[in-house]
Amino acid sequence: MKIGIIGAGHIGSTLAKLFVEADHKVAIANSRGPETLEDIVAELGDNATAGTVEQARDFGDVVIVSIPLGRYAELPIDGWESKIVVDTNNYYPDRDGNISALDSGEITSSELLLKHLPGARLVKSFNTIWFEHLKTQGNAQLPLEERRAIFIAGDDSEAKAVVASLIEGIGFAAVDTGFLAEGGRSQQPGTTIYNKELTAAEAAKALTATA
Ligand SMILES: NC(=O)c1ccc[n+]([C@@H]2O[C@H](COP(=O)([O-])OP(=O)(O)OC[C@H]3O[C@@H](n4cnc5c(N)ncnc54)[C@H](OP(=O)(O)O)[C@@H]3O)[C@@H](O)[C@H]2O)c1
Repeated sequence: MKIGIIGAGHIGSTLAKLFVEADHKVAIANSRGPETLEDIVAELGDNATAGTVEQARDFGDVVIVSIPLGRYAELPIDGWESKIVVDTNNYYPDRDGNISALDSGEITSSELLLKHLPGARLVKSFNTIWFEHLKTQGNAQLPLEERRAIFIAGDDSEAKAVVASLIEGIGFAAVDTGFLAEGGRSQQPGTTIYNKELTAAEAAKALTATA
């Protein structure tokens, strides 16, 4: 699969490595331009290229958005129609500045991002796992219920299935938390599943306990 990755930091570059190792092709972008990503793509090998944000967006059958949430408005608003977009982002006011619609709990950070990316088929995922765990805890040899859980929330079941297969391909298990509004909320910082080292079986129990 062709995967665009916007954001080349802890999560973006870790996902790029894992996806290339799983035989996908990636195009990765940051805010400073492709020339600043030469070292990263050289290390990733032939299945990786660096591009602009627009090039990464257009390249991907799936596009990962992994940037500090406070910078979401810098992303282009066009070209997202029907794209499967994976939102790894979290809202941290100290880093991102205060966003009133999020402080009031009116909407989730994923819904905020989706408003900026009209037509995207957005799935919230990879936001509850620390990048060092993402690097090391995938194990495709294990049965799904024994693998570390990575949560998915979204309103498009087909898009969620595609993201789930990417998650399984890098050795984790996808656990569905529901629609973007409710599921997205249950994946936010401070919840019972956020940054917890849960297997898929444990995750299912944790979600039932908090339902
Ligand atoms: N770190 C974790 O373990 C972790 C875990 C789960 C979720 N998250 C969430 O995932 C997101 C990314 O976290 P991170 O730790 O990977 O961040 P990070 O290491 O600070 O990297 C951020 C990346 O985003 C890029 N970026 C910033 N603004 C951009 C823009 N307008 N267009 C394109 N690229 C832009 C930066 O590029 P430049 O350097 O060129 O500006 C940088 O490559 C955050 O929302 C974070 O809360 C992080």
